[in-house]
Amino acid sequence: MSDPAIEDTTRVVDGVMRSRRSLRAFHPKSVPRELLEALLAVAATAPSNSNTQPWRVHALAGASLQTLGDALVAAFRENRLPPSPHFPEPLPEEHAQRQREFGATYYRTLGLDITDMPGRMRQTERNFHFFGAPVGLIFTIDKRLAPHSWLDLGLLVQNVMIAASARGLGSCPQVSFARFHPVIAQHLTLGEHEVTVCGMSLGYPEPDAPINRMSMPRRDVREFVSFESFDMPPLAQAQR
Ligand SMILES: Cc1cc2nc3c(=O)[nH]c(=O)nc-3n(C[C@H](O)[C@H](O)[C@H](O)COP(=O)(O)O)c2cc1C
Repeated sequence: MSDPAIEDTTRVVDGVMRSRRSLRAFHPKSVPRELLEALLAVAATAPSNSNTQPWRVHALAGASLQTLGDALVAAFRENRLPPSPHFPEPLPEEHAQRQREFGATYYRTLGLDITDMPGRMRQTERNFHFFGAPVGLIFTIDKRLAPHSWLDLGLLVQNVMIAASARGLGSCPQVSFARFHPVIAQHLTLGEHEVTVCGMSLGYPEPDAPINRMSMPRRDVREFVSFESFDMPPLAQAQR
């Protein structure tokens, strides 16, 4: 028998998850600090291994956001830091194929020819001013931890985006910042062991921007899940 309360919750939660997408154009309207704090407080209910909560978040607005953005753009233009190793080189073909599909959709939506390298550079550069968002978040972690703790931070990041969507805010998670950790470290007060994992643009969506209507497809569940013993009766499963 269906439970109307569960159905309502499912509709709302699934709706927020399905409607979230990475936004790359923002309205200049500011995000009040109280709203940001409430959002981060609920996001921090994310689980973590042994409840270690290994994340740190640096929230920037106004002059701090502008100053960091300017410094990052300068570093990007000077190309003085090594490329970030967030993907192996070469990327295995099954992943590279989806990466190419993303690139094709992204540049087509922006009206950019994929061979227009200066145009692509200008768009990549927009990452560093947080795509014009009024809030920029930098997520860091203690670099002494094992990769598994980065998973905890990833859960926090997803929670921030879902909590933002639920409040009518938009977001874009951005690994682009990782390469520029030395620049970030000059502008923020970081602990000796902190390393930048990613950033995030956060603010009210610019509804008319075509780039905000880009919707990336997902793999079918049956393509990435192996179902084992689901057709067997429960007793047979337990005895296996
Ligand atoms: C860890 C991570 C890093 C990302 N880095 C960037 C980035 O640096 N710049 C950017 O524009 N988008 C970035 N994205 C957004 C992805 O391109 C986006 O999530 C993906 O294409 C799926 O689209 P959707 O988020 O709209 O569903 C990143 C996403 C994740 C999860």
